[in-house]
Amino acid sequence: MSMNETTNSQQPFLAVEDLTVRFPTPDGVVNAVTELSYNVELGRTLGIVGESGSGKSVSSMAIMGLHDRRRAKISGSIRLQGTDLVDVDDDRMRRIRGNVVSMIFQDPLSSLHPFYTIGDQISEAYLAHNKASKAQARKRAIELLERVGIPQAGRRVDDYPHQFSGGMRQRAMIAMALVNDPQLLIADEPTTALDVTVQAQILDLLQDLQREFGSAIIIITHDLGVVAEMADDVLVMYAGRCVEYGKGKEILTRPEHPYTWGLLSSAPHLTGDPGQPLTPIKGSPPSLVNLPSGCSFHPRCPYASRLPDDRCVELLPELRPGGRGAGHLVRCHLPNPDEIFVDEIQPRIG
Ligand SMILES: Nc1ncnc2c1ncn2[C@@H]1O[C@H](COP(=O)(O)OP(=O)(O)OP(=O)(O)O)[C@@H](O)[C@H]1O
Ligand code: SF4
Ligand SMILES: [Mg+2]
Repeated sequence: MSMNETTNSQQPFLAVEDLTVRFPTPDGVVNAVTELSYNVELGRTLGIVGESGSGKSVSSMAIMGLHDRRRAKISGSIRLQGTDLVDVDDDRMRRIRGNVVSMIFQDPLSSLHPFYTIGDQISEAYLAHNKASKAQARKRAIELLERVGIPQAGRRVDDYPHQFSGGMRQRAMIAMALVNDPQLLIADEPTTALDVTVQAQILDLLQDLQREFGSAIIIITHDLGVVAEMADDVLVMYAGRCVEYGKGKEILTRPEHPYTWGLLSSAPHLTGDPGQPLTPIKGSPPSLVNLPSGCSFHPRCPYASRLPDDRCVELLPELRPGGRGAGHLVRCHLPNPDEIFVDEIQPRIG
């Protein structure tokens, strides 16, 4: 079942459907993202969570049109207000990118050029999409730097990236991403490199901007605290696929997929037991070149052996409605929680 079928007939702002991204390599085809579907509406925030390598960044970079089409094989559709971004030509994508849709990248150094001042780079992002003078663009750059909390922005605007601390670079990059008031902002681990206070300021800023401009936000994070604070909806990815999707509160308090149980029980502050040490999910993520048969999570799943007919090993579970809430989808062969022993096997959560 596709997530897009669960919405009404009105066209969603962003509708990703069956997005698949593969990279042919000498060692085989890397199945980075497989048949991923989700919607995001204006004014809403989708949180995407999952372990390292689960396809979070690759799927988001597809929305930004940032994959080299000779290297990445992309299928499915990414409809933004009805326009399929998988099909648009490079010129049109350039007009959309950094303007209607913009991204805060995981690594600030990858999006800031070392040889140009911070101010020039933000101004350039503004001038690329607006008819304005250099002076107006500079004014806008200073305004944005102030907005993201850079002290003495009028002076620091002429600094080069190496003159900024890591946290300031991250904020400068956020300023650059926001300079054209994007309708869709993708924030890939936007606060990972920052200390807790700055982290909270940046999250507040994103929320303010959303209130002010009604933007849609996709926030990618390992931090379930960030999800709890920011996300209306949550999508859990495992090995390139969506394994669970639903309202943030549902996913955080009443998850139904064993992988999500694992993620949550490795986040003790959410399970109400801050003294509990982190318990990472046993085992490691699978090879994306040779994905496990059946459910990709079966080699690590403590419940695989409890289900009959080896079905976890042989059959890929469909994404189907979960038992506990409208719009909740789960990709697992376990019966719905109200039907069976889930409360007995689901420790410490819910
Ligand atoms: N250009 C590429 N060629 C081959 N494989 C790639 C390429 N880009 C990404 N991958 C692979 O795709 C998989 C998904 O990567 P992705 O960057 O989306 O992970 P992620 O979920 O963002 O992880 P992290 O939390 O570490 O950022 C990884 O195994 C990665 O090595
Ligand atoms: S389908 Fe089977 S292996 Fe996969 S998560 Fe569910 S119980 Fe575990
Ligand atoms: Mg990533």
